[in-house]
Amino acid sequence: MMNQSLLEIAYLIGSVTFIVGLKMMGNAKTARNGNLIAAAGMFIAIVGTIALHDKPVTPLIYGLIFSAIALGSVVGWMAAKKVQMTKMPELVSMFNGMGGACAALIGLMEFQHNVGNTGSMITIIAGTVIGSVSFSGSIIAYLKLNGTMNKPLRLPSYNIINTAVLIGVILFGAWIIYSDTAEMAIVYALFAIAILYGVLFTVPIGGADMPVVISLLNSFTGLAAAFGGFLYDNKIMLTGGILVGSAGTLLTLVMCKAMNRPLSNVIFGAFGEGTASSGGPEVKGSIKDASATDIAILMNYSKKVVIVPGYGLAVAQAQHVIHELEQLLEERGVEVKYAIHPVAGRMPGHMNVLLAESNVAYEKLVEMEDINPEFEQTDVVLVVGANDVVNPAAKTDPSSPIYGMPILEVDKAKHIIVNKRSMSAGYAGIDNLLFYDPKCSMFFGDAKKALTELVNELKNLS
Ligand code: TAP
Repeated sequence: MMNQSLLEIAYLIGSVTFIVGLKMMGNAKTARNGNLIAAAGMFIAIVGTIALHDKPVTPLIYGLIFSAIALGSVVGWMAAKKVQMTKMPELVSMFNGMGGACAALIGLMEFQHNVGNTGSMITIIAGTVIGSVSFSGSIIAYLKLNGTMNKPLRLPSYNIINTAVLIGVILFGAWIIYSDTAEMAIVYALFAIAILYGVLFTVPIGGADMPVVISLLNSFTGLAAAFGGFLYDNKIMLTGGILVGSAGTLLTLVMCKAMNRPLSNVIFGAFGEGTASSGGPEVKGSIKDASATDIAILMNYSKKVVIVPGYGLAVAQAQHVIHELEQLLEERGVEVKYAIHPVAGRMPGHMNVLLAESNVAYEKLVEMEDINPEFEQTDVVLVVGANDVVNPAAKTDPSSPIYGMPILEVDKAKHIIVNKRSMSAGYAGIDNLLFYDPKCSMFFGDAKKALTELVNELKNLS
């Protein structure tokens, strides 16, 4: 009885740390500590469960539990230590897949013990199905992000096939619950079809949409874990699952809103198919080229410079040299800010994490809504490896695939410099009207190389 009360207290502490930790993760300054606090809560809950549970456990079972914990901790620790920032979505995807697999395994383990109890069977079947979909979907997302499966694979009528498989899974699950069967083969079959559905669901979606898909699968894993919490009447599994489920859902919606695309378009839409490279206005006009010397002089005599980082900055690993440029300009009395679009790059917070790595002060990163009114008073905007997030077609051309997507309104600044390697399109595959703006000059080259040249030119100016 005493143990049970202590265990409930441990779970309560764990639940509170999850909530406080999640809140702290909302700000880059407190995020690291928030993560540590939530991890400490998880540790308390795990130790509490092992030390205070009231079921008899043999030494063999203890051996298995500690071996699994040691193995998981070593693999997780090493993977997280080694991962590069640009590979973070892959790691998140893999960890999420493992969470889904755990939730599905709970269902397989508990199935035979609960036959006849409809309430428990609903949670078991739901946890098994959702966990399995999340597991296989996350593995496919991982393979897409690391380039192993770099092309979306679309079977003819894939939306109809996928919907039919989903309906099949739901009907089969419902039949298992009401048939009271105790046959393990049947639940293994359900597990296999749900795994198949996870693959079919993720395979047609393009690699650049994977962050949205991972976030959605993350919410599935949370939901599956919450079902486990219901099954065991375990408060911390329930709290953790609900938090993961709701945070994943909110993040998915935030990303869709920032791309001005409904979730159904990400899942069923095959973005840009038939429109992307051919879509958008036919651009007529010429572009201007600027040299590093011209740009250095222009910036040197500016009062305010805003830098717009994008995917190309991350690819070129130019975060350190951009910070050096910022410091040089500030030494010369130029005010420098960074304009952060919510979906710049390829994952939520990509630019924030990248710039934090090179010690750019967090206060210098300004969100889209706050920086847009400042562009009119900006002397120079330097766009580095960003494309779609500054394309005015999103505001002016109703036929554009990105029409309606909120953008950074850099065309309002006095001068615009765009650094990229060529005139190629960004993720949306469309031409960018900005490059033809008379106020805009192109600064071609790999971001790291071009910015290093710019920094050297600036150093040469007295
Ligand atoms: P993009 O529109 O993808 O443009 C990136 C640009 O970087 C390209 O035009 C490319 O042009 C340039 N580039 C590539 N490598 C470079 C290098 N080494 N040096 C210099 N430039 C380089 O990027 P964005 O503006 O950041 O927009 C992000 C896009 O991804 C949006 O369409 C968004 O909807 C989508 N998306 C984002 C997310 C999240 S959460 N971030 C999720 C899903 C989808 P060159 O080839 O000519 O160099």
